[in-house]
Amino acid sequence: MANGIHLFMGKLFSAQVREHGIFLDERFLYPDFIPEKLPFRDKALKSLAYCFEPLLAGRKPLNVFLAGPTGVGKTACAKYVLRELQEESGSVKSLYLNCFEYNSRVSVLSAIANFLGSAVPRRGLATDEIFNDMLESLRKCGFTPVVVLDEVDQILLSEANAKLLYDLLRVMEYEKRHIGLVLISNDVSLVSRLDSRIRSSLTEEAVIFESYSPEQLKAILSERAVLAFAKGALPAEVIGVAAAHAARLGGDARVALESLLKAGRIAERSNSKAVGTVHLRQAFDDVDAVSMLKSLKYLEKDELRLLKIIAERQPMTSGSIYDSYSGSDSGALKERRLRTILSTLEKRGLVAGKSVTLGNRGKTKEYSSLVPGNFLLKEIESLLQKA
Ligand SMILES: Nc1ncnc2c1ncn2[C@@H]1O[C@H](COP(=O)(O)OP(=O)(O)OP(=O)(O)O)[C@@H](O)[C@H]1O
Ligand SMILES: [Mg+2]
Repeated sequence: MANGIHLFMGKLFSAQVREHGIFLDERFLYPDFIPEKLPFRDKALKSLAYCFEPLLAGRKPLNVFLAGPTGVGKTACAKYVLRELQEESGSVKSLYLNCFEYNSRVSVLSAIANFLGSAVPRRGLATDEIFNDMLESLRKCGFTPVVVLDEVDQILLSEANAKLLYDLLRVMEYEKRHIGLVLISNDVSLVSRLDSRIRSSLTEEAVIFESYSPEQLKAILSERAVLAFAKGALPAEVIGVAAAHAARLGGDARVALESLLKAGRIAERSNSKAVGTVHLRQAFDDVDAVSMLKSLKYLEKDELRLLKIIAERQPMTSGSIYDSYSGSDSGALKERRLRTILSTLEKRGLVAGKSVTLGNRGKTKEYSSLVPGNFLLKEIESLLQKA
């Protein structure tokens, strides 16, 4: 029976593809796809290769810091170089951690320890025990690890979690075994705020990424479009408009690629043979919020629900947010938990809080969502359904 259903689904979908034929393979436009070539990033790729080259000769690599605005290829370059490095050397293995997801000292240390071969349980061990397990596994493991901490500023938001950098420093300074480190952030000035010992040991090399120009975006889009779209389904004129739009929004390649993907889907749904600027313009509204929404998919259920309440009824005081949440189907929430959630949403740039005076009843904070309403609500709904 199950097979029958699958067969039917398979036929249904392939018939649709034949009918509309906009995409050859839309996966080439997905944000986590790493292309074979990364145009305009030769310098960054060479700097990264220079940092990791020593590993091929069994020597210590240089730890590197990558910074620059959103959608400029930082993550793509790091993954690209590490993929090549692992192909080149069987003795190097990389671990990629996004600190929106691994956002505490313990979670990062546990992930590294497990990667190196320890069997650290998800809960219950003290930080020191995990750290020691990690060291022991490092001494025993049969490869050289390179750890990427992407969005590393998420770890540095709290002092307790920022101690992770001192843990890593201890490994670098006292262990004979090498471990490579890549720190990635949107915040170019982050390094200058680190203590000088951390700075000189964990960020020996810095690569700063600049935004893409409209011409560069056009070239990037054209290369990806050849792989993703059927012949003739994406006129050059449309690529130009997408590139210009993304350039206005700060030279963000993710925005540019995402608008093509969404425009392609809109064209497909409306049974068009090719993507037109009209489809693209419809896609822009949704896509403009994309770069703000990086952190959305890492939010917990309570955090999503609260953000939804704020987005629907903003601006709201913390008191009224609390009342609305308690009155909703989701049930009560401890006031302390509410404050933690609000502060997380604020730190992640999803809401803004400002102090307001409540007549003679003192001060409170009022929260508004920073992301355009409709799109945000749609995304939250779909994430809540999955959660
Ligand atoms: N030079 C390039 N050539 C082809 N694709 C690129 C290039 N630069 C970026 N991209 C693509 O653009 C998207 C965004 O890039 P990436 O995720 O590396 O950005 P980022 O700098 O890490 O941004 P953020 O700070 O928001 O995480 C990805 O899909 C990536 O493949
Ligand atoms: Mg990134």
